[in-house]
Amino acid sequence: MSAAVEFLCRGNVVALPTETVYGLGADAMNASAALKIFEAKERPKFDPLIIHLPDRDWLERITHVGRAERKLVAQLADHFWPGPLTIVLPRRAVPDVVTAGLETVAVRMSAHPTFREVIDAFGGPIAAPSANRFGRISPTEAAHVFEELNGRIPLIVDGGATSFGIESTIVAVRDGAIEILRPGPISVEELGEFGAVRNAIARERPEAPGQLPSHYAPRTPLRLTSNLERFEVPEGRVGALLFGTTGIQDFAETRTLSSTGDLREAAANLFRQLRELDAAGLDLIVAEHVPERGIGCAIMDRLRRAAALREQA
Ligand code: TXA
Ligand code: MG
Repeated sequence: MSAAVEFLCRGNVVALPTETVYGLGADAMNASAALKIFEAKERPKFDPLIIHLPDRDWLERITHVGRAERKLVAQLADHFWPGPLTIVLPRRAVPDVVTAGLETVAVRMSAHPTFREVIDAFGGPIAAPSANRFGRISPTEAAHVFEELNGRIPLIVDGGATSFGIESTIVAVRDGAIEILRPGPISVEELGEFGAVRNAIARERPEAPGQLPSHYAPRTPLRLTSNLERFEVPEGRVGALLFGTTGIQDFAETRTLSSTGDLREAAANLFRQLRELDAAGLDLIVAEHVPERGIGCAIMDRLRRAAALREQA
């Protein structure tokens, strides 16, 4: 842990576990440190980073919350922080490279005990996108980070498998309403308790490039089906990512997101199982739809992006 803090203090990057996915962290207030994140990930400079705050005091220092939004932002932060909710707000002093020149900044507070220990000792905000190469599947275990970034970063802190397994929900608070920019572990239903919720998930012309349709892509082609029994399996080695049902057809490889149909468990398994199927030398991965409620919306969002499919009505 102290090694991680030392690297951060010296303006280096380190991979750290969070409750969602592993992040590649650097000192958010140090432009040249933040640049190293873009280099290691091969991330285009126009894609802004999320800043992880050590505590609520930093919210005032980094963001500029308008009078009209203050109450709602405070309620969301009180209720969901530390945890998997990222809030996009007008920014104050943050290096341009971190926000990709935008007038807004995305902030969250991680609940992971290891992350908290590191950020408390570091004592400042940490910019951390998911610790994968740009456009690839987010890492939910230290070994995944190693696969993605071995040789490009000096340290990976192993905190075991992440508990949610899917990236944080991103919201913007505008005109008294909550706009969902990326679905995640905090569901529409939960956010609805605090005000009107609008879906602002970018598909055609994304506000942030991380929301491009082809994000989260395995190298193997992936297709989604709402009816696996009727799915016509093409020639070749085909693997299946099942939700709850098993043994419907003969596939070269199968993974089951949750044998009991539990969406939280499914989310926690999603990226690891996609990685495993991607490494199995398949010609095609067929993924079964999951129910679009709670965290299921986030799972379907990631599967659609992996399949680079447009939302079908
Ligand atoms: O759970 C998470 O959020 C993880 C962990 C490591 O914290 N981080 C993560 O970061 O998923 P990243 O960079 O992979 O995804 C952040 C997304 C990107 O799509 C980026 O474009 C968007 O947030 N983003 C960042 N700043 C933004 C802003 N000011 N306005 C709109 N979108 C923004
Ligand atoms: Mg990412």
